[in-house]
Amino acid sequence: MKSTFESKPTTQVAKTMINNNSPQEWPEPIVRVQSLSKICKDSIPERYIKPLSDRPNPITSCDHDDANIPIIDLGALLYGDPYTRASTLKQISEACKEWGFFQVVNHGVSHELMDMARETWRQFFHLPMEVKQQYANSPKTYEGYGSRLGVEKGAILDWSDYYYLHYLPLSLKDYGKWPAMPPSCREVFDEYGRELVKLSGKLMKVLSINLELEEDFLQNAFGGEDIGACLRVNFYPKCPKPDLTLGLSSHSDPGGMTLLLPDDQVTGLQVRKSNNWITVKPARHAFIVNIGDQIQVLSNAIYKSVEHRVIVNSDKERVSLAFFYNPKSDIPIEPAKELVKPDRPALYTAMTFDEYRLFIRLRGPCGKSHVESLKSPR
Ligand code: OGA
Ligand code: NI
Repeated sequence: MKSTFESKPTTQVAKTMINNNSPQEWPEPIVRVQSLSKICKDSIPERYIKPLSDRPNPITSCDHDDANIPIIDLGALLYGDPYTRASTLKQISEACKEWGFFQVVNHGVSHELMDMARETWRQFFHLPMEVKQQYANSPKTYEGYGSRLGVEKGAILDWSDYYYLHYLPLSLKDYGKWPAMPPSCREVFDEYGRELVKLSGKLMKVLSINLELEEDFLQNAFGGEDIGACLRVNFYPKCPKPDLTLGLSSHSDPGGMTLLLPDDQVTGLQVRKSNNWITVKPARHAFIVNIGDQIQVLSNAIYKSVEHRVIVNSDKERVSLAFFYNPKSDIPIEPAKELVKPDRPALYTAMTFDEYRLFIRLRGPCGKSHVESLKSPR
């Protein structure tokens, strides 16, 4: 736990960073992990080697081989009788409290669309490097083709490349920053975004009801129609030394809620449960849902964002689509008044998502230190 001293300066630091503007350029030349993967046959560059304590640890995780995050059938929410509906709500409530993570099936999104979106992105990552380089991103907005998070010079990097784009607000949606290849990809990515915005809206209602708030509470707290929605497509190339590195370092998602479409062939996502890392076994055509830091704040920590990370392997690449449903970026996010009680005072001070996100954008993934540093002085 951070000392109460550290909470106030956090807001001040964020404001100072905003005034000084976001960083414009990467601190050193970008190396595509996909290119490294082609040339590194039995070693990896030192920059990707994690300290011992952060490396994948097969000794503790193998004890929990059959553990998995809950799988929840959403069918009853749409078509069920009141009893099965209530039971579904309860399963989600328990999953949010117990895990911060769950998988949903029968969610209403077409399986063909899911497969098409993932495979179209896979094709994008297999285009020639010159094509992808046209979309090279900068730390100013992160939109486009990227290979690192954070701008700290000399940082230890993750074994992955990614593509980042905005769906909402419409003012940020810019087809010029979306891939134009493979052909028809924009239509697929657009439809995928529309469907995930819809599904997220439904889940926000479920979470609000489970928190004993009005069903539109979370949506309204996020800015109503003006929410943010963006996609980060992760590409994890084969790695000759998977025991020494990570595809994505431990982090909690900074936004509201994440809907992840994992690779259908290759596992890799691990979720922290107490002191263990549980490898998620995806159900077929499921979305993996997780609570982000902003819902932790709004729920006054009744729900917590949970740390997760990605491991890589030596013989298979992996693709995943992380869709982030976020609050409007310039409204203050603070614990819901209804969830602040004499015996449960507000745990966090208000901060906009713009301010909050700057931390991650500057420092890269680092566990839950960002949301922890938001704690109110008490
Ligand atoms: C993320 C993330 C997990 C995965 O992009 O924030 O946690 O399996 N991805 O790629
Ligand atoms: Ni994540």
